[in-house]
Amino acid sequence: MAEITPQQEKQLLQAALDVQDLAYAPYSHYHVGAAILLGDGSIAAGCNVENAAYPVGICAERAAASIAVSSGQREFVAIAVVTPNGGTPCGMCRQFLSEFNPELPVYAYNGDGILVHKLPLNDLLLHAFGPKALESVD
Ligand code: THU
Repeated sequence: MAEITPQQEKQLLQAALDVQDLAYAPYSHYHVGAAILLGDGSIAAGCNVENAAYPVGICAERAAASIAVSSGQREFVAIAVVTPNGGTPCGMCRQFLSEFNPELPVYAYNGDGILVHKLPLNDLLLHAFGPKALESVD
């Protein structure tokens, strides 16, 4: 797995912790913050935003990734995710992130900032469906 520097790791964790505080999760009370290190060195951060119509809510990882792409950055270098218990990104988020970097290093922390999982996205999403799958279709 491609490594980031300890300093970058620290910055990403802090950005994820900061944005976790902004989570809007009145239904699950499961606050999530995600921070993506981008190719230009900047960081895109997002939190989960729930909705009274439950399925309409969005996860922190997809919020962060959407902010990155909307700022013109599609090169995803690493992602830090902070949840209360060190949970890993959900299946939908794995697929969403894989579009931009199937080997994205994923750092999952608990609410105390303790690293619980560190692994490449392709370990979390085997044989992912990606853009190439659509190339041979007319
Ligand atoms: N959630 C995330 O933000 N990221 C994940 O990968 C897992 C789940 C959110 C969605 C929902 O707001 C809450 O956590 C409980 O599922």
